[in-house]
Amino acid sequence: MAFMEEGDREIVLMWELLETKIMKRGGFYPRLLYYLAENGYLKKDYRVLCATTGHGTLYSILLKRGYDVYGNDGSAEMIKLLEGKGYKHKHKPTNLKWQELANHYQEKFFDFIFTEGNSLIYAGSWGRRNPDLAKAREEINKSILSKSKILKTKGFWYLEIPKESEKGDGPVSKELIVGGKSVTFSYSFLNDWKRRIRTFVMKFGLDGEEVVQKSPLMTDKEFREVASPYFSSIKKLDINDPHYQGYLLRK
Ligand SMILES: C[S@@+](CC[C@H](N)C(=O)[O-])C[C@H]1O[C@@H](n2cnc3c(N)ncnc32)[C@H](O)[C@@H]1O
Repeated sequence: MAFMEEGDREIVLMWELLETKIMKRGGFYPRLLYYLAENGYLKKDYRVLCATTGHGTLYSILLKRGYDVYGNDGSAEMIKLLEGKGYKHKHKPTNLKWQELANHYQEKFFDFIFTEGNSLIYAGSWGRRNPDLAKAREEINKSILSKSKILKTKGFWYLEIPKESEKGDGPVSKELIVGGKSVTFSYSFLNDWKRRIRTFVMKFGLDGEEVVQKSPLMTDKEFREVASPYFSSIKKLDINDPHYQGYLLRK
């Protein structure tokens, strides 16, 4: 399979390395869940959609804590990776684009939806070498509408997008032990707020090919303009993250 085509394995494997060995977001989710539960936003009997499981960092915590959680990810390779983890699923994870969730689930099915880990902006560009960013923006808008349809009235949606203050980082190189071998993993990202384009670059091994992932960026104002027709409230959450701004929306 050609590199950086949809369904490509390399971006999936690199994302897992970045997320588990460098960003290490595993510790953040228990704090987020505590906050959501303490404030009555996430209740134990809720039907929850983890709409972007990735390899399962948040999803596995929700499963362990006994939530009625449905897993989904738009990448078939990501779902393969997830299925290889041996989690005890409550429901078979699905491989649907958010844009098509409303064709699959009945209206007002979920009490809570998660789109964590800065995923929303990738709705139309993830895994594509040269995404059409104008179309990718439309896909983001469609995915917001689709999620609002399958959410119950008064249900909640948690998501993250890049902070407007974030300009970029790197290149950062780390020596990682992967499969018993030491490998150089490097990444960098640049947020061009003028053109509203985020460019994320990852490279595995000194001679490895670079994965260049471009996606649209949206400001707080732009996100609110798109989401406000479908949600009764949009609340910024201070999640104390250097890169991402959290949001909690209520239908
Ligand atoms: C930045 S990763 C975050 C994954 C996971 N939430 C985490 O924190 O590790 C983005 C994820 O969104 C998924 N994704 C991107 N566009 C999607 C879409 N349109 N529908 C469903 N999933 C999508 C990708 O397959 C990928 O797993």
